[in-house]
Amino acid sequence: MTNFARYPSLDGKSVFVSGGTTGIGVYFVTAFARQGAKVTFIGRNREAAAEVIAEVSDVAHRPLFIECDITDVAALQGAIAQGRAAHGPITVLVNNAANDKRHTTQGMTVAEWDAAIAVNLRHQFFAAQAVIEDMKSAGGGSIINLSSTSWKIKSPEYPAYATCKAAINGLTRSLAREFGMHRIRVNTLTPGWVMTDKQLRMWVDAAGLAERDHNQCLPGDLTSMDCANLALFLAADDSRMCTAQEFVVDGGWT
Ligand SMILES: NC(=O)c1ccc[n+]([C@@H]2O[C@H](COP(=O)([O-])OP(=O)(O)OC[C@H]3O[C@@H](n4cnc5c(N)ncnc54)[C@H](O)[C@@H]3O)[C@@H](O)[C@H]2O)c1
Repeated sequence: MTNFARYPSLDGKSVFVSGGTTGIGVYFVTAFARQGAKVTFIGRNREAAAEVIAEVSDVAHRPLFIECDITDVAALQGAIAQGRAAHGPITVLVNNAANDKRHTTQGMTVAEWDAAIAVNLRHQFFAAQAVIEDMKSAGGGSIINLSSTSWKIKSPEYPAYATCKAAINGLTRSLAREFGMHRIRVNTLTPGWVMTDKQLRMWVDAAGLAERDHNQCLPGDLTSMDCANLALFLAADDSRMCTAQEFVVDGGWT
């Protein structure tokens, strides 16, 4: 089960990951670092970032952490510039950060709606915009946009998050068409219900697990590593002709 692939094409690659201090993002950072990539990651928690870096103390290139709130687009652009300065032109972008905050439709204000769009969707576009020239000059690149199956399975409780996660498919396909001629590939990575610490702490209960067992074709937990393994493939030369697609890792739920 843990005999995973090694991708020589990821060796030395400059990779940028948003939201790398908790959850699935930690596995994006550590999995790319273990493949020999030069990883820049952003988040808001320095202590958590130090733990992530310590986890991969044996890798060739120590990941670089930059404190950054992704809703501040200028700061995000600045963090990408710092990543470029440290590790060279960014040729892999993992747009991971999000917040699946619960809310009601009737109780939502315009400001709360705009904040949800900023944390779940807007930064994906502006991060892509900021790395396009790097990828063009490098002769190609891979942008991986994190979506979610939540909008497909009609999960209630977070219509703003679900709207963003659906919209990401449109963003992916549009950018893939515009920049495909430069060998820039853009794909959506769509996880199902991943058993992160946050999910276990906040939402996983016996009823939820029973629902999961009923809906997944495959038994057992979907893990952050399952998502990271798909991201590695989408970033590597092995997926060189895959673009404008949605890749779902959900144990067969949808
Ligand atoms: N866990 C799941 O079951 C699941 C399912 C489907 C999709 N996803 C998607 O996978 C991705 C990772 O999810 P996760 O479960 O690891 O969630 P998470 O909440 O643990 O992680 C999201 C990351 O984004 C960061 N983040 C949030 N707001 C930020 C901000 N304003 N500035 C900077 N960073 C910010 C968080 O700090 C965190 O590191 C998300 O795009 C999520 O929508 C997760």
